[in-house]
Amino acid sequence: MGKYYITTPIYYPSDNLHIGHAYTTVIADALARYYRQRGHDVRFLTGTDEHGQKIQRKAESVGTTPQEYVDGIVKNIKELWSKLQISYDDFIRTTEERHEKSVQQIFERLYQQGDIYKSEYEGWYCTPCEAFWLERQLKDGKCPDCDRPVELVKEESYFFRLSKYADRLLKHIEENPEFILPESRRNEMINNFLKPGLEDLSVSRTTFSWGIKVPFDPKHVIYVWIDALSNYITALGYPEKTELMEQYWPADLHLMAKEIVRFHTIIWPIFLMALDLPLPKQIFGHGWLVLEGGKMSKSKGNVIDPLILIDKYGLDAIRYYLLREIPFGSDGVYTEEALVLRLNTDLANDLGNLLHRTLSMIEKFNGGIIPVPGEYQAIDQQLIQQVKESIQELDSSIAKLEINDAMVAIFKIVSRANKYIDEVAPWSLAKQPELRERLNTVLYTMAETIRITGVLLAPFLIETPQKIFEQLGVGTVDTNKDYFALIKWGGLQPGTQTRKGNPIFPRIEEEKVEEDKSKVNKEAKETATPPVEKDKATAEITIDDFMKIDLRVAKVLEAEKVEGSDKLLKLKVMVAEEERQIVAGIAQHYQPEQLVGKEIVVVANLKPAKLRGVLSQGMLLAASNEQGKLALVCPEQEIGTGAKVK
Ligand code: ME8
Ligand code: MG
Repeated sequence: MGKYYITTPIYYPSDNLHIGHAYTTVIADALARYYRQRGHDVRFLTGTDEHGQKIQRKAESVGTTPQEYVDGIVKNIKELWSKLQISYDDFIRTTEERHEKSVQQIFERLYQQGDIYKSEYEGWYCTPCEAFWLERQLKDGKCPDCDRPVELVKEESYFFRLSKYADRLLKHIEENPEFILPESRRNEMINNFLKPGLEDLSVSRTTFSWGIKVPFDPKHVIYVWIDALSNYITALGYPEKTELMEQYWPADLHLMAKEIVRFHTIIWPIFLMALDLPLPKQIFGHGWLVLEGGKMSKSKGNVIDPLILIDKYGLDAIRYYLLREIPFGSDGVYTEEALVLRLNTDLANDLGNLLHRTLSMIEKFNGGIIPVPGEYQAIDQQLIQQVKESIQELDSSIAKLEINDAMVAIFKIVSRANKYIDEVAPWSLAKQPELRERLNTVLYTMAETIRITGVLLAPFLIETPQKIFEQLGVGTVDTNKDYFALIKWGGLQPGTQTRKGNPIFPRIEEEKVEEDKSKVNKEAKETATPPVEKDKATAEITIDDFMKIDLRVAKVLEAEKVEGSDKLLKLKVMVAEEERQIVAGIAQHYQPEQLVGKEIVVVANLKPAKLRGVLSQGMLLAASNEQGKLALVCPEQEIGTGAKVK
């Protein structure tokens, strides 16, 4: 197995990061974990780009020093990456000595060899992008990248001979179709930048001081993009001849969004050519996460904070959404509704439900023990075949960096497995003692499918695979060890005692999502298997079915409105000895104080769910009519909490 060196951009700590930065970083993390799992020697680098005019101005605007300012933000960034479980091997800050010293050495060398020379720069500068522009490149007098005003700059400056290497770069790009991806960005670079001809690049500034000083001319600070791009090699110890350089350079993948592909595919490769270093194998510019109202940006202040989302929906829901939602390479609109839909459909309805129903059946039909499978029939083989195909599809999607398709590949197993259960109907096999062995084979097939799915999910989701293994009874699994053995069919030992727990992804009953039924249905058609027991409400049921519902009398201890909702009340109730929280959509019919002290009836064995992010451990019974009137169901006389209703 080879090595795999992957990098994210080093982000500007001009403000706290948002979901757009999390998007790149989670994807890079998933790739790093994917290659580690398959035995590659992975190095995953991220960090922060701390110099430049933009940061200096930001710090001034809040009345602090640049260093103090970035120290604060970097602390938050590291905390965010830790919450998102980003498994970076190194975090480089451009204000670290190891970086500053190296950048000065590099600059000096390029000056010595004549690739950097002194002259005067006159032209335009976009501070938010930290980019120089020629008059002819401006769009209506503004920055062609971010559409903001540019400033006229006229100052003494060092220049880097980009023009000298332009032909060599064009040739490299043309001969290596995988060097810049997606292809649209590659064409853009060739046609809009390389073909019109490159001008030499201004690589120092004199009108502000927050940067790395030119060692032999300290009134100049080194242009922040030269400083920043160097991080990919200074973090490996360059220009020292280090083992890290030896082992990991050239990078296998520089990952970023499209707006900085230009810096990485023109300035950076030429810089490396001048240093006589090999070029990175691939630069991938993905699309932007945009809001319904336009692009998110730190400087515009319209951003989504991933920390809030993690607290609200959990780490794996956010990671899954980021990995799955947007065709990698295209722009995608971020909405919280779409996130909740992903969680409710793929994770709760499909994956969570698959695990839960499987373990329920193993519990019910085989005392919670993984049975010994008998002979596999065609229908079992089809599911096993799906597992194999999904593994291949996962690998080929990752090789093409089609990250969202990689998720689709894994979830095809989940859909197929849910369908399999509906088709083989283990509950009817269980009624026929002569089909015992058949039932065992089916139960084993279900459980083994889930185990392998857990192994495949390990690079992408953090908590879910271990929860799956835990509930299957196989304990903690080191998914980085023996990957190829772990995905082999038959690894689950018959006789294993399963440990069914709570559903791993409770559905989020967002009112908003409920209201927009059309969206839910469309989504469900696309990705979900049919709900398991739909339309049972009006069908006849047996007394046994009814007895599955644990109806109890509960006493209301406290009641209050759920913040941000005009429909929901949060109740604290006592069910026998146990205190529980129940969220109910009755706020338009009852005042909280009317309820305290009342005896009501609740479904005590309902799966816990979150409504508006608030945990609900049960459901209360109420009657409602067509006119919208609603009345609570209460015992006719006081009977005491915990009394059974039947
Ligand atoms: O450009 N959608 O830093 P930066 C998707 N310091 N990705 C997004 C995004 C969005 N809405 N917003 C940000 C810089 N990103 C330089 C990089 S590298 C040598 C120097 C991600 O803080 C995406 O990866 O502006 C984008 O390229 C990067 O953050 C820009 O981060
Ligand atoms: Mg930016």
